[in-house]
Amino acid sequence: MCGVVGYIGSKEAAPILIDGLQRLEYRGYDSAGIAVLNGSKITSRKEVGRLANLEKMLAADPVKGTRGIGHTRWATHGAPSQINSHPHSSSDGSIAVVHNGIIENYAELRDELSAKGHKFLSETDTEVVPHLIEQSLKDGAKSPVEAIQRTLKRLRGAYALGILFRTEPDAIYCARKGSPLIIGLGEKENFIASDVPAIINRIKKAIYLNDGEMAVVRADSVEICTMEGVAVTPVIKEISFKAEAAECAGFETFMLKEIHEQPRILRAMLEKHVSADGKIDIGSDLKPDYFRKLNRIMIVSCGTAYHAGMYGKLLLENLTGIAVETDLASEFRYRDPKIDPGTLIIPVSQSGETADTLASIRMAKEWGCKILAICNVEGSSVVRESDAVFFTNCGPEIGVASTKAYTAQLMAFALFSLYVAGVRGNLTPEQIKSYLADLQEVPDAVHYVIQKKDEIQAISEKHHDGPSSLYLGRKFNYPTALEGALKNKEISYQHAEGYAAGEMKHGPIALINDALPVICICTKTSDEVYEKMLSNIKEVEARSGRIIAVATEGDTEIAKLAGDIIYVPEVRDEFTPIVNVVGLQLLAYYAARARGTDIDKPRNLAKSVTVE
Ligand code: G6P
Repeated sequence: MCGVVGYIGSKEAAPILIDGLQRLEYRGYDSAGIAVLNGSKITSRKEVGRLANLEKMLAADPVKGTRGIGHTRWATHGAPSQINSHPHSSSDGSIAVVHNGIIENYAELRDELSAKGHKFLSETDTEVVPHLIEQSLKDGAKSPVEAIQRTLKRLRGAYALGILFRTEPDAIYCARKGSPLIIGLGEKENFIASDVPAIINRIKKAIYLNDGEMAVVRADSVEICTMEGVAVTPVIKEISFKAEAAECAGFETFMLKEIHEQPRILRAMLEKHVSADGKIDIGSDLKPDYFRKLNRIMIVSCGTAYHAGMYGKLLLENLTGIAVETDLASEFRYRDPKIDPGTLIIPVSQSGETADTLASIRMAKEWGCKILAICNVEGSSVVRESDAVFFTNCGPEIGVASTKAYTAQLMAFALFSLYVAGVRGNLTPEQIKSYLADLQEVPDAVHYVIQKKDEIQAISEKHHDGPSSLYLGRKFNYPTALEGALKNKEISYQHAEGYAAGEMKHGPIALINDALPVICICTKTSDEVYEKMLSNIKEVEARSGRIIAVATEGDTEIAKLAGDIIYVPEVRDEFTPIVNVVGLQLLAYYAARARGTDIDKPRNLAKSVTVE
């Protein structure tokens, strides 16, 4: 969603802001803008559409100055238009503001300010912020810091703010609540940004601003305080990944690069969490005894991470005997789930900033529950608000459609389930070793599937042009079917439905004809549902559906039924989803390529959904 970047130093700000915004493009946006401060003059440029449009405008009409703020906007209040783009200004143009988040009480604030003579130009919620700051100064705030503090106290909702004052040529200001914001530390220059990848090429250290804090950022200093004015000692963190991690590295897209990174990431997770003598370390502060007494787990997440949660539920129930539920965070937060303090909550999130997931964590904490997050981003809100974290450590995921974060989440659940089964005695040490030996085969199996990308591309190119497709799977691969369908619709814009294969007769069978690709996940191991999947496939065949199977190498039975087959190596039933989904990622990828979509930045989608 919206991206915020800011710079103060001795270099020209505009190119640095544009570069930062380019690196934030992956979050999803529909317009962009910057404001640059030069002496006591603030100049803004805003444009609708891709950043290239703003760049063109800047080339024709450059702005000079060594401090500035920039923004990519993902429209919530008011259509994407130049007037609605950030930065927004106070009535007299002396204050410019960029904002990520939503000001929920903007309507009443706007009415109040309008009655005092403020004129609003845009339809946005954000515009009240510069006007409120301006009004606070008129009402007697003695400094920009005090005016910002007074303003923050009036705002309801979520925000990461970057602020310039015409009267303060040597500072940029920022504040956060609910939406992430970091301060990047350079040599005699400093930055602000929504996330590390925006400025990773320029910094090695950063301060993660906490909720309710604001900062005055100068070229050579950073002062942080709360909105009540209490000074805060900044905690400086080394950035743990290199700039190259956020580069395309010769691949045509970030998504393709991230698909290829999966074997390495899965191997690294195994190396990190499994010792040579077969002991699993989940790197969590929760002690074994906690898991021994545990009798209920609730997994909450959104999007792809929700599908990972569905897999986690199946595996945990299967291996540990603990009752596990999973829910969409957006639903969970509005129901009455009868959770007691003994329930462990597992939020799953790549970004660690998803608004609904965060809200679920906060609710569960009020009920006294422990929170063990599965998360990819250090310093993110989910990480900071959880009691313990299982990091997926897959580096920045830039492609909007999640790939490597998903398989890493599945691997995290596999390791976590085995760990819990071990401490509770559901599995003997020998059994765990056997599972781990099978899990060790997964990265190579994933690599094998990636090597088949040309074959998968050929299959995609045969079937990408229809209006719809259906994905079917059972048991461990029911979430795989949902995730495969999600990937397809996200990036190729072909309507796709994922279904539990056993439910096909209760509706989707009506869709089947010779134009409908039906992607059947039917890997053959000892799994009891293999035969059931074959029956479902026969039902599709009887209605002339176009069958694309994901099947185990050497399965001759399936060859009699399916028109096209993505063969994958045999791995243990429980771990097939980690391998199978990679075939579906590539299937979606090449469908999107054939349909000519913007694969890394699909229309309307945001990487990190920081609003409800
Ligand atoms: C958005 C992204 C998805 C992601 C979901 C949850 O919809 O486009 O790729 O799965 O949010 O995000 P999270 O960061 O919490 O995993």
